[in-house]
Amino acid sequence: MSCNIAIDGPAGAGKSTIAKKIAKKLGYIYVDTGAMYRAMALYLIREKIDPSETEKISTKCREADISIGYENGEQIVYLNGENVNAYIRTEEVGNMASASSPNPDVRKKLVELQQKLAASRDVVMDGRDIGTCVLPNAQVKVYLTADSRVRAERRYKELQAKGEDCDLDTIERDIIERDRQDMTREISPLVQAQDATLIDSSHMSVDEVAEAVIALL
Ligand code: DC
Repeated sequence: MSCNIAIDGPAGAGKSTIAKKIAKKLGYIYVDTGAMYRAMALYLIREKIDPSETEKISTKCREADISIGYENGEQIVYLNGENVNAYIRTEEVGNMASASSPNPDVRKKLVELQQKLAASRDVVMDGRDIGTCVLPNAQVKVYLTADSRVRAERRYKELQAKGEDCDLDTIERDIIERDRQDMTREISPLVQAQDATLIDSSHMSVDEVAEAVIALL
């Protein structure tokens, strides 16, 4: 039987950094489910669909074949056979992913893909509904969070390092708004699974968090 580690939590809590580190240490595969929602969003943008067109999103998502592969340990997301990693980290794609991910047809398709991946391999999977919906029987479930100010500061430093102009208060406001959207949506809202362990990374280093998760295993 494969071993599954589920990591959920709000935007900016450090899920992907931690999940990647653990996967490398344990020799597991890292599955970034947010990247799949982003690839679907890219398809919808290319098809010129507006985030408000719910019915069109339901129909069009059937045409998007999303799969993942690995090159040098890095996850590659394919959209109808094309490697789209370089196009999914933009603000526009993130906004479309946020608007289209509550759609039940989009979720059904991507959750099936995620479950298939985890059934045959040891995975560390991160997202918003992994412990609650995608892998309810995961051996380890973590709800990773951090204070909104700390998350904003991390994002601020990342943007500054890239030479981008930004404002800490605005970033924190955006983070709080995104939390609200993710936590209050009707389908698969972001909640801590009853059997998940809460880890608050506000005052922890990456190594400390990774060790805490591995200790649970
Ligand atoms: O983690 P991220 O920013 O790459 O996620 C992009 C969007 O996809 C975000 O708005 C939340 C959504 N998402 C989701 O609904 N369920 C998941 N398991 C992962 C991401």
